[in-house]
Amino acid sequence: MTTHKLLAGAILSLCFFPCAAHGQAPPKAQFISLEEAQPVLSAMSGSLPAELKSTATQDPAQWSAWVLKQDRQIRERLDRGEEDTLTNLLRFGVTFTKEYRIDDEYLPKYGSSSLVNAFAENRANDLIRAMASPNANEGIAHMRAFLEKKGYSFKTPEDRRKIKKYLLDNLARLRDEYLHYLAQAKDDSRFQLFQERGISLDTNLWPDFLIDEHLRHMVEKGLLKPGSIHRVAVVGPGLDFANKEKGNDFYPLQTIQPFAVLDSLFRLGLADPATVELYTFDISSDVNFHISRARKNAAAGRPYTVQLPWDTSARHTPEYRKDFVNYWQELGDRIGAPVAPIAVPPGAAAETQTRAVKIRPEIVRRVTPLDMNIVFQHLPPSPQQGFDLIIGTNIFVYFNSFEQSLARVNMSLMLNPGGFVLSNDKLPGSVSAGLSDSLLTTQIVARDPDMTEMMFCYEKKK
Ligand SMILES: C[S@@+](CC[C@H](N)C(=O)[O-])C[C@H]1O[C@@H](n2cnc3c(N)ncnc32)[C@H](O)[C@@H]1O
Repeated sequence: MTTHKLLAGAILSLCFFPCAAHGQAPPKAQFISLEEAQPVLSAMSGSLPAELKSTATQDPAQWSAWVLKQDRQIRERLDRGEEDTLTNLLRFGVTFTKEYRIDDEYLPKYGSSSLVNAFAENRANDLIRAMASPNANEGIAHMRAFLEKKGYSFKTPEDRRKIKKYLLDNLARLRDEYLHYLAQAKDDSRFQLFQERGISLDTNLWPDFLIDEHLRHMVEKGLLKPGSIHRVAVVGPGLDFANKEKGNDFYPLQTIQPFAVLDSLFRLGLADPATVELYTFDISSDVNFHISRARKNAAAGRPYTVQLPWDTSARHTPEYRKDFVNYWQELGDRIGAPVAPIAVPPGAAAETQTRAVKIRPEIVRRVTPLDMNIVFQHLPPSPQQGFDLIIGTNIFVYFNSFEQSLARVNMSLMLNPGGFVLSNDKLPGSVSAGLSDSLLTTQIVARDPDMTEMMFCYEKKK
């Protein structure tokens, strides 16, 4: 872990916020024990990681040492995820350049088309200039700090040449990963597609729309009753800046998913705004620190404003588009009030719709961030402090089926009987961990080529 992350983690642990409802310090995640992991180790004995094939599956001390090492390695992948965010900023950013974006059509041509190469060169020069400027906006300054932490400097032309090479090498890597993504098999291996990739924090509104539809669907089927959600967790809420899709960089870093989930729960009458508790579980100190700062501001009576931009050039069926626009227009009306959004810069205006919502401080205070690696950690199981709902979108895809199975155990340990896990990645079923398959929601997003989003749902045995 880098010094920066250690420091942010230390600051977070100093900001011991009282639990939303109990006025106590928040609970602390604990590592999965050998006994808790045993069903997964037995069921997957033929395909365990090499280091676990020895005695570590019988010896609790060896198991704990292995878990600590793996936990560290997963957290180190965040650094590579930041590289992807920087590359997305290079491809799509609109605040630092007037050059064409390197969209999904252009990306495969990088390296072989002199036109796309020129776009990339110009964008890299403009981005380096912006990062070196003392007036850089929050996101660009964040990226400068990331590069400086890696040992890069902006001082001399030679220093800046090295940064440019780094930026363009990363663009070539992202191109290759994108081509690999296009060639992926359409089988269940797609749910582990990013298992070797850096872990990024990017997020946008599409998964929140899917969660909303799925919750609505659960209500229609009688799986969720009015007022039945008291404690909910969002695993990996993300931070919205320079995301994979469009990388809009014209607004400050923000997290949306925890608030979008609360908004949906309130609209559907599933949770009480005065008492619900939402926990976020994340390994990123940037995410955790961001949410803890929003909470601190809320405690001082300050609201949290979210910008809600979306990409109108995305491929959608007319039905998906209509339903999404309805969702987007209402988004936030149960947790705050509309305010004037940050203006979209000319470079993105033609294909961006946006609005903004100022979220009431008392809603922000319902959210408590916890540092937790869902693959290896959970909260101490407690009959009074169990969760009714745990939601994770675009997170399990970063892990292999062994890791996903451990995450399934960890989530099950935290759920109340009859509680649900929602995930847009299918979790392996070789170890049920007391969770059985429940309602599936399918959204047809686009056709020719077809694009479908799915929400998988697992219910804890009653
Ligand atoms: C790509 S973002 C997804 C954000 C949001 N859920 C969405 O769907 O737009 C992945 C998020 O999961 C977090 N994350 C990744 N691995 C994790 C783990 N093992 N435990 C907890 N959080 C994790 C990342 O730090 C990040 O916040």
